[in-house]
Amino acid sequence: MATSNVVCAFVLSSLFHFLLVPVLSHDVDVLQKCGFKAIYQLGDSIADTGNLITENPLSRYAWFPYGMNLSKPTGRCSNGLLMIDYIARSAKLPYLDAFLNPARIFSGGCSGVNFAVAGSTALPAEVLSSKNILNIVTKESLSAQLEWMFTYFNTCSKDCAKEIKSSLFMVGEIGGNDYNYAFLFNKSNEEMKALVPEVVKAIKDAVEKVIGYGARRVVVPGNFPIGCFPIYLSQFQPNDAAAYDEFHCLKGLNSFASYHNELLKQTVEGLKTNYPDVIIVYGDYYKAFMSIYQNAQSLGFDTKTMQKACCGTGGDHNFSLRRMCGALGVPVCPNPDQHISWDGIHLTQKAYQHMAEWLINDIFPKLQCSA
Ligand SMILES: *[C@@H]1O[C@H](CO)[C@@H](O)[C@H](O)[C@H]1NC(C)=O
Ligand SMILES: *[C@@H]1O[C@H](CO)[C@@H](O)[C@H](O)[C@H]1NC(C)=O
Ligand SMILES: *[C@@H]1O[C@H](CO)[C@@H](O)[C@H](O)[C@H]1NC(C)=O
Repeated sequence: MATSNVVCAFVLSSLFHFLLVPVLSHDVDVLQKCGFKAIYQLGDSIADTGNLITENPLSRYAWFPYGMNLSKPTGRCSNGLLMIDYIARSAKLPYLDAFLNPARIFSGGCSGVNFAVAGSTALPAEVLSSKNILNIVTKESLSAQLEWMFTYFNTCSKDCAKEIKSSLFMVGEIGGNDYNYAFLFNKSNEEMKALVPEVVKAIKDAVEKVIGYGARRVVVPGNFPIGCFPIYLSQFQPNDAAAYDEFHCLKGLNSFASYHNELLKQTVEGLKTNYPDVIIVYGDYYKAFMSIYQNAQSLGFDTKTMQKACCGTGGDHNFSLRRMCGALGVPVCPNPDQHISWDGIHLTQKAYQHMAEWLINDIFPKLQCSA
């Protein structure tokens, strides 16, 4: 009796331990086992490594403090590296060069290309503007990125084309901006909800396009819990405690993101049935983010400033739409590694690193690399 109680307590406590401690991969190079020849990325500012700033050199992402932890600003919307950099590193591949970067065209490497453009939407600009939603950052949407990809595969060396089958395709995160702009243009709840199936359909079409180009392993990331982001926390400040969850994130916005994610997951399931020869994996950015939120302290984040941007002009969330990070004189916190949010919209390198570790762990078995 006594022993069984002890055993029981031990099992319970280790189970408890297992549940609380983030499942961090100690084998961060695990994607190397997949033997990917290249990685191709579609998406927005979560993954852009230089497309927007080539198109618009005056973008604030082209200047310090963006990239302050790198040798120079690269167009990455963070103080340093992004999730895609850690994914490439895990696959033992070089960091992805931006499609528009003249240096890439010159070097003509074959280990992957990044088509993501900060500010990009899943739906074409015309479709959004018909709903009175304007993309204020870039004219390049997912369809433009898919055209670039098509051009790239048709003009790259024979080897590149041959290696598409052994490459990893990241279709997203994309769609987050469709919602960001819609919120900015004060769309009603009904209009917001109606947008979701359209955005998910655009992502589905993109997955089918890359499969058409020859992709055999595709990751389709979902949206973040945007109700935890300073940009939204500062914009919507309901006077009702019931509007916040236990992490002081906005419940309504998180359930909106979950609604998108649920539809996207269902779509991924449908695609798996329709394309049995292709491995399609949902990338759970929502859970990856929540896992760092839940384990913030043990990961070295300052729990008192979790909902404050590191780079910003003060206020409850250190964020103001009127003067954002990158504007002249906007200060940077002295300890970016202790912050989850970099500029109120994007995360710090440290947060992206932890998210990428969670994600790599989660997707690796699903990619069935030995199959
Ligand atoms: C980024 O730079 C800051 C300030 O110099 C430093 O404290 C921090 O450790 C750096 N973080 C990383 C991930 O390199
Ligand atoms: C949206 O609403 C806010 C607050 O009412 C207002 O300040 C802002 O100008 C509106 N934006 C647009 C694009 O109509
Ligand atoms: C917020 O903004 C102030 C300047 O207003 C800055 O000094 C500070 O480091 C920022 N970060 C945090 C976490 O408050």
